[in-house]
Amino acid sequence: MILPIVAYGDPVLRKVAKDIPKDYPKLDELLENMFETMYNAYGVGLAAPQVGLPIRLFVIDASAFADDEDLSEEEREMLKNFKKVFINPTIIEETGKEWTFNEGCLSIPDIREDISRNETIKIEYLDADLKLHTEEFSGLAARVIQHEYDHIEGVLFTDKLSSLKKRLLKGKLSNISKGKIKVDYKMRFPDAKKAR
Ligand code: NI
Repeated sequence: MILPIVAYGDPVLRKVAKDIPKDYPKLDELLENMFETMYNAYGVGLAAPQVGLPIRLFVIDASAFADDEDLSEEEREMLKNFKKVFINPTIIEETGKEWTFNEGCLSIPDIREDISRNETIKIEYLDADLKLHTEEFSGLAARVIQHEYDHIEGVLFTDKLSSLKKRLLKGKLSNISKGKIKVDYKMRFPDAKKAR
C-alpha cells in the first residue's frame, strides 16, 4: 500500500525518533509499504518519520545509482544490490574527507542542493529479520544512509545549508508546507488549507 509522504514543515520530521521493540506490530507490512511508497516516488531512501511514524527505521534501495557512468566500477558493483532495511540504527563513527553531493528529499520536492558529508560511516543496525550488524559504508551508499539517518534524528538536508541559502529557499519551503507544489506522488501537507 502506498502511504502519503509527509511534507516539509510537519512536526514529525523534527522529532528524534524512538527505537522500536522487537515485537513491533506488523513490521513486515510496514516495511513492504515503505518500499512500495519509495519506489512509487522514485526515491532511493525513505525514513519512517516521512510516513508519519517517529520510529528509528529506514529503507534504502540505491540500485538506481548502479547505472551512473560517473562512478567507479567498484562503486557501481557495490550499489547494484544495495537494498537494505535499517532498524534501530546507531552511527558509531563518521570518517574520511568531506565531499559534496547534490541531495534531494521526497519530503522536500523540487529542491536539490549540494551537501557536504564525510565519506565513510560505521553503523550498527538490525536488519528486517532483526539480526544485528555492524558495518562500514563509503561513498554514495554512506551518503544515502547519512541522509536517512538524519531523518530519524529530526534533521533535514536543508538544515545544513548556509543561512543565505536558507533565506533564499524560505518561500519555496513554505509553499511546500502549504501544498502549493506539483508532485507526482501522494503527500500530506502540514499547512494545506482544509477543503472548502
Ligand atoms: Ni529525505
